[in-house]
Amino acid sequence: MVSKIDYQSKIPNNVGLSDSPKLQKALERWLPNYLDWWQEMGPEGFQQDEVYLRTAVSVDTDGWAHFDYVKMPEYRWGIFLTPSEQERTIAFGDNIGQRAWDDVPGEMRTELRRLIVTQGDTEPASVEQQRLLGQTCPSLYDLRNLFQVNVEEGRHLWAMVYLLMMHFGRDGREEAEELLQRRSGNADSPRILEAFNKPIDDWLAFFCFTTFTDRDGKYQLGALAESGFDPLSRTCRFMLTEEAHHMFVGETGVSRVIQRTIELMKTAPEGDVAKAGGIPLDLVQRYINEWYTASLDLFGSENSSNSATYFAAGLKGRWAEATDPRITDHTALNATYHLDVPNNGGFEDQEIPLRRAMNLVLRDSYVEDCERVIVRWNKVLEKAGMTERMKLPHQRFNRGQGVYASGHYDPEGNPISASEWEAKRDQWLPSKADLAYVKSLMVPVMEAGKFAPWIAPPRKGINGQPIEFEYVKRA
Ligand SMILES: [Fe+2]
Ligand SMILES: [Fe+2]
Repeated sequence: MVSKIDYQSKIPNNVGLSDSPKLQKALERWLPNYLDWWQEMGPEGFQQDEVYLRTAVSVDTDGWAHFDYVKMPEYRWGIFLTPSEQERTIAFGDNIGQRAWDDVPGEMRTELRRLIVTQGDTEPASVEQQRLLGQTCPSLYDLRNLFQVNVEEGRHLWAMVYLLMMHFGRDGREEAEELLQRRSGNADSPRILEAFNKPIDDWLAFFCFTTFTDRDGKYQLGALAESGFDPLSRTCRFMLTEEAHHMFVGETGVSRVIQRTIELMKTAPEGDVAKAGGIPLDLVQRYINEWYTASLDLFGSENSSNSATYFAAGLKGRWAEATDPRITDHTALNATYHLDVPNNGGFEDQEIPLRRAMNLVLRDSYVEDCERVIVRWNKVLEKAGMTERMKLPHQRFNRGQGVYASGHYDPEGNPISASEWEAKRDQWLPSKADLAYVKSLMVPVMEAGKFAPWIAPPRKGINGQPIEFEYVKRA
């Protein structure tokens, strides 16, 4: 297995592309269409700028990243897989203990294709959602981070397209084209999952998206990294290393907003944060409520025959299925999951066979992770001597998918009437006035080392560079 990256070819890769001329040709034919898509739907107004980006140069755990100025359309997108483990076996489901597959087992073709296309579709979608954000960046540091996230989502698309073209023949090539044709938020050909059709019009939404929605990505990729289909597993493992940076951008972004708000609460006349151009904590909480719940929806139905099929076949496992010592039963055949489902205005206990509850199991791991983020944000408040705290709303609140989607619940999860929901909605979710206010703050700051007044500077720069480093050189 080659693990160094071949940078000589048109498409940098560590998969020995030059040895598969047919695949190489298919990918080279796709490349100009991808670049057209990037020009049309990528960051608007910055394609000629020199951006201080990291590029993958090796997939070894140490030192895979190289930092330098790059124009985004010249970014070296490529195909990188984590090297294969010799003799990897399938860790769960009905095929447990068998050798992992290097090729798609015929009977799983449809399911695997659906999993890869659904994952692949989210990657360009997020680039589309974020394409205008650069124009209102709070600093060059943040602008660079946005672009880093964007080019890596582009590369994640490449990763999924590679799998489609390598393993699904003509169907795969058609899917690859369609991945460039759907558009986030488009009424006629929207992206597949709803959270990827929501507009991201301001930077607080961007930071919440990268905290909560990219974190859904982390858990989906983690579950696919357990896959018995080895090329998918290895692709997702490498994508996870990049995903970590996206969540860093989100979490520290929100944290810096909170930090700045605290300063203004202490120094602004009468502590009026909004009058001083900051973002009040209750408004931040409403954004958290919105993006966290939209991201919960991405996990799908609580009781799902698809999730049972994927698990049984060994295609999609639980988070850390093979390595978490708390998971002892890898067949999940006899266990059940208990869920309170709405019934006659109250709840009844429903017992779901564990394999059918795998979306929920994965979602629980995700929720735990989100709780840890909230704890870290609350540390910022605590350290500053504030009594306010952030929190995650109940899983029943504001749901568009699953068993709670048809009812109304307050953020504590109590059932409420439709009229109460209407009356209180704006206390819990961003109102039109909130969105307009946040938008009014989005004035671009593009002088190196300067930051918009609604956000604190980061604690340190990127790759050991100072905070006032010129992270983007405007053309
Ligand atoms: Fe991604
Ligand atoms: Fe991401």
